[in-house]
Amino acid sequence: MRANHASFDVFDAVFAVIPWPALMLGHDGAVMLTSEEVGVPAARPEPPPSLRERAGHYIAALRGEPPWLTPQEVDTTRALPSGEEVQERIILRRTDWGACLIVMAQTELRQLTGADIQAARLAALGFMVAGVCHEISNPLTSLHSVVQLLRSEKRPDDRVLEKGLSSIESSVKKILDISRRLVMFSRVGEEPRSQFAVDVAIDEALQVMRQEKLLDRIELQWSTDASALVFGNTGQLSEVFLNLFLNAAQAMDGSGSLSIRTVDAGNSVQVIVSDSGPGISEAVLARMFEPFFTTKPTGQGTGLGLAISSEIVLEHGGTLKVERSPAPGASFCVELPRERP
Ligand SMILES: Nc1ncnc2c1ncn2[C@@H]1O[C@H](COP(=O)(O)OP(=O)(O)OP(=O)(O)O)[C@@H](O)[C@H]1O
Ligand SMILES: [Mg+2]
Repeated sequence: MRANHASFDVFDAVFAVIPWPALMLGHDGAVMLTSEEVGVPAARPEPPPSLRERAGHYIAALRGEPPWLTPQEVDTTRALPSGEEVQERIILRRTDWGACLIVMAQTELRQLTGADIQAARLAALGFMVAGVCHEISNPLTSLHSVVQLLRSEKRPDDRVLEKGLSSIESSVKKILDISRRLVMFSRVGEEPRSQFAVDVAIDEALQVMRQEKLLDRIELQWSTDASALVFGNTGQLSEVFLNLFLNAAQAMDGSGSLSIRTVDAGNSVQVIVSDSGPGISEAVLARMFEPFFTTKPTGQGTGLGLAISSEIVLEHGGTLKVERSPAPGASFCVELPRERP
């Protein structure tokens, strides 16, 4: 789905739930709309230049390729016309129209409370709303027409009935998959964080893979490392690893090799997950973190795996990146801080 009038309606809804100034960027990095332009009152009154005029400064501070499409959080310093300096944190998240950039003043950051963290999570969900409406409208339309068709046949024969029922089943499954993932993601607040060996989260994810018999034909190379401690929520991080392992298994069509390596990166720990699958094309690389982007057949992927995983990792003060290496297959790097960020 590309930016259209429907996106502009969604922008209003997203601006309304985000308590900070925000800019919507297109796939080309151009500013589509700012919260200032739709008259959302800012928490603190901003002197000129306008949010749109400041976009260049914010985009220049971003990292990645292309920077305006790489989910991240960076701190910047900006000089006001008065000569005074303001410290700002810019938060960038992917959306199906491109990206949303949120600008938080450092003074607000210092007082970041549980409610703010919840608001940020809700904002991330807000970005997904456009996609959710779009994604569930197809299976709902198909459900509606199958039901009407079955109704119109006085006594549908077994073949028609069977076809109708399996179509209903796959539409319902698609809607359930989306709603389950979003419900899990929308749980905020009650997730305790502590320091633990990252192996614990990796092992939890591998156990799920084993229970589902997804590792039977996969050669697993995992070098455990009890000294690789990270700070965070075990359950959420094991969900991140599970998404990466599932993607690897699916890319390899169930058989191949999966390697999990931990690397000591000083204050942080990197976990590198590599597979021997077909790798990732440039076209997919550009869009894979976008909510609802999937190359999998209907019913096999919601396209939320990487979007949710990268959101969880960013909330932990870490990063989730694709490793660009000449080796065949795909490789992902999850970097997590050892201590409370
Ligand atoms: N290891 C990988 N190898 C090749 N392509 C991958 C790999 N991991 C992800 N991708 C590509 O990125 C896309 C998005 O992945 P993501 O996990 O977000 O969604 P999904 O796997 O399609 O659906 P879901 O995770 O909701 O079941 C995939 O459809 C696939 O094209
Ligand atoms: Mg996935």
